[in-house]
Amino acid sequence: MTKAPRYILGIESSCDETAVALVEANGRVALNAVASQMELHAPFGGVVPEVAARHHIEACLPLVEEALDVVEGDWNRIERIAVTYAPGLIGCLLVGMETGKTLAWLHNKPLVAVNHLAGHLHATHLTPERGTHLLAEAGELHPVLPEGVESPETDASVRREQAPYPHLGLIVSGGHTSLVRVEAPGRYRTIAQTLDDAAGEAYDKVARILGLGYPGGPLIDNLATTGEPGRFVFTPPMMRRDKPDFSFSGLKTAVLREVELQRAEHGEELPHQVVCDLCTAFQTAAVEALIGKALAAAKRERLNDLVITGGVACNRGLRERAARASADHRWLRVWFPHPALCTDNAAMIAGVAWHLAPLDAQAALTLNAASTMPLET
Ligand code: KG4
Ligand code: ZN
Repeated sequence: MTKAPRYILGIESSCDETAVALVEANGRVALNAVASQMELHAPFGGVVPEVAARHHIEACLPLVEEALDVVEGDWNRIERIAVTYAPGLIGCLLVGMETGKTLAWLHNKPLVAVNHLAGHLHATHLTPERGTHLLAEAGELHPVLPEGVESPETDASVRREQAPYPHLGLIVSGGHTSLVRVEAPGRYRTIAQTLDDAAGEAYDKVARILGLGYPGGPLIDNLATTGEPGRFVFTPPMMRRDKPDFSFSGLKTAVLREVELQRAEHGEELPHQVVCDLCTAFQTAAVEALIGKALAAAKRERLNDLVITGGVACNRGLRERAARASADHRWLRVWFPHPALCTDNAAMIAGVAWHLAPLDAQAALTLNAASTMPLET
């Protein structure tokens, strides 16, 4: 009789997604349950922390019950409990953390404290299991994977090739845009960050300017596919080689100016094609800045592998541009997590926890949340 697999139970609630996952030591994801609050926050055009925290309270334990169904109620099959403790919205983090701490205490399990960004950085090491609702849905996005790397949809039971260490990590999410030298799980050096808006934040703000809704990233990504390239042109921000950091607020303002000009010509309701053309121009500039900076950093750090992760890593324009960079610069290999593992999820938290914590380094039950926390700590 084959032995039943053992898991780390991951809990993530740092922003507007409540998530619970079960991950095996080999990175296979058995459950990746995510309760998204997007619709709740859409009328506000962004996440309302108080509303988000209250929703986490409602969603967290039902998701833990889903995990218990997978292990048929057998807590012996759960080795440790991993919780996101930083960075994030404090009220939100506390819900997931307190749930994890209580379960760890009750069932005598080691608690692992995970930095949310570390989770994002190692998401390419996970093998998604088809069949969980979110993964099946996101599979339709057809991720662009580097040559020689199997699509996780092709065979979810086979663990695919992984980005070797050290490598360059590019985190692009709603709250963060940074380049990180990743020596190994738990060993990082942040090379560059955004000086103002994060990439995802810029997508969300531009979508708001265009009256598209929230979250803006996927909406702009879709409309950009039918835009006419070159009808509008925005300069990719901060492309000077000697400046490693990112900046997106100037690009956002440039879009705002152009939208004002277009509204003066066409009226408040812009023609659909104009909106698509503006999305194409914004996406081209944003993606160019991300890949340009990443390429320069990879060269400087002499790293051949670039891992792009976080919600914006779902972006098709970014995936295509990265694949092109890899084709143009044969020394560069680019890696993306499965799209369902790019946006916030708990599988990435449980997955990295297998590498982070020897059993003697477990977090104390007095662990507290932190809104900011460098990866280096
Ligand atoms: O990683 P994530 O789920 O949460 C944070 O840690 O912030 O990222 C959410 C961000 C949002 O700003 C959303 O607009 C953006 O990721 N996003 C995208 C796409 N899908 C999600 N941005 C561009 N293109 C996409 N396809
Ligand atoms: Zn995130």
